[in-house]
Amino acid sequence: MSGNAVNIEEVVRMVLSSMAEENQIVKKTTVIENKSIPRTARVAMLTKPEQYEIKEYPIPEVGEDDILVKVEGCGICGTDAHEFKRDPFGLIPVVLGHEGTGEIVKMGKNVKYDSAGKSLRVGDKVVSCMIFKDNPDITMFDLNKQNLGGSDIYGLLPDDSYHFNGWFSDYIFIRGGSTIFNVSDLDIYSRILIEPCAVLIHAVERAKTTGILRFNSRVVVQGCGPIGLICIAILRTMGIQNIIAVDGVQQRLEFAKELGASDVVNFSDHKGIEALAAAIKEKFDGHLADFAFQCTGSPVAHANIYKFIRNGGGLCELGFFINGGDATINPHFDICSKEITVVGSWVYTLRDYATTFDFLKAAKQIGLPLNRLITNTYPLEEINEGHKTNLAMSGLKIAIINQ
Ligand SMILES: NC(=O)c1ccc[n+]([C@@H]2O[C@H](COP(=O)([O-])OP(=O)(O)OC[C@H]3O[C@@H](n4cnc5c(N)ncnc54)[C@H](O)[C@@H]3O)[C@@H](O)[C@H]2O)c1
Ligand SMILES: [Zn+2]
Repeated sequence: MSGNAVNIEEVVRMVLSSMAEENQIVKKTTVIENKSIPRTARVAMLTKPEQYEIKEYPIPEVGEDDILVKVEGCGICGTDAHEFKRDPFGLIPVVLGHEGTGEIVKMGKNVKYDSAGKSLRVGDKVVSCMIFKDNPDITMFDLNKQNLGGSDIYGLLPDDSYHFNGWFSDYIFIRGGSTIFNVSDLDIYSRILIEPCAVLIHAVERAKTTGILRFNSRVVVQGCGPIGLICIAILRTMGIQNIIAVDGVQQRLEFAKELGASDVVNFSDHKGIEALAAAIKEKFDGHLADFAFQCTGSPVAHANIYKFIRNGGGLCELGFFINGGDATINPHFDICSKEITVVGSWVYTLRDYATTFDFLKAAKQIGLPLNRLITNTYPLEEINEGHKTNLAMSGLKIAIINQ
């Protein structure tokens, strides 16, 4: 009797546990189904200046060399801001977004490695890069000029029959032969910051070619928008300790300190360029800067910066991604008699991209709060608001984060 009772109990337990297992299987299947790829997905299409429309299209067939990525997020860049405002590049209708990242959900059988030779699998987190793989010196603008088409550029070429060409979307369709990097070892905010950080990695590499930038150099970083702030973080990560940040916005200067500036100068506290240069000199214990980075789009700022640099010092001008007008300098006083070495810096190379991944990890290791550069986030359906916040310049980096 009692033996029977035990048996019944055991049977009931077994049935219950097998039901639970079945339940789990059902749940697991559901999860897989939830993750399964929908037939259609959304993109944010800029259809006229200052107007994105959310549109839904069928996801294209993934060919043997292609990759389908589920977008996690994408930063709004200054270039997107220009395009949003008045379409200066003539791209409308366009799915913008080139500072994006996401997870591979499907890929063709020929896809094995990323552009740095790292293996690629479904589930890996990736970023694209707008540098033509076969020739690292060709940038997006050359591509457009050469009319080479859009196989490699995402978020900056007009809409076509694929539609999923930019990172302001739910999915992005990465065509075979595109430059792509596996960055699964970086968190989502770091991944969104890769593209702007590569700009500064390149600028610092350009600066190093002068031979003037050293471990214990005194450096001025003029302008503390995202570009100047990242510049400071890179210099600090390289071990440079004497960094003075210059801006007119106190809040940005405070953040510059957190990112590694040893001191700051608010230009609005000083009347005239002589007084401003004197303030910087005082912060450097009576010395002018060995090297300076110009990180504003202001011609006046360009004209001013020579006054902060010592004889024989160096300057990296990177603030004019687009034409911001003419600057007046005195070649005798500013460059010739001071023997200043000037380098320009514009976008980046593939090598800079790979260096950027290492920088982001190293900056985190020494505790620089780089991710706080992303001050505002919006879901895709609020992309117009996100761009307006970006234009209002009330935050630093604005990002679209998909749910
Ligand atoms: N070289 C490249 O490839 C490249 C790439 C991206 C952006 N950029 C350029 O970098 C510049 C900065 O970009 P951002 O996103 O940081 O812009 P931003 O407008 O957010 O920041 C510029 C900062 O400079 C400050 N500023 C203005 N005039 C100044 C002055 N006279 N002295 C000191 N500070 C001054 C502003 O207060 C602001 O904080 C832009 O002009 C952009 O075109 C260049
Ligand atoms: Zn950008």
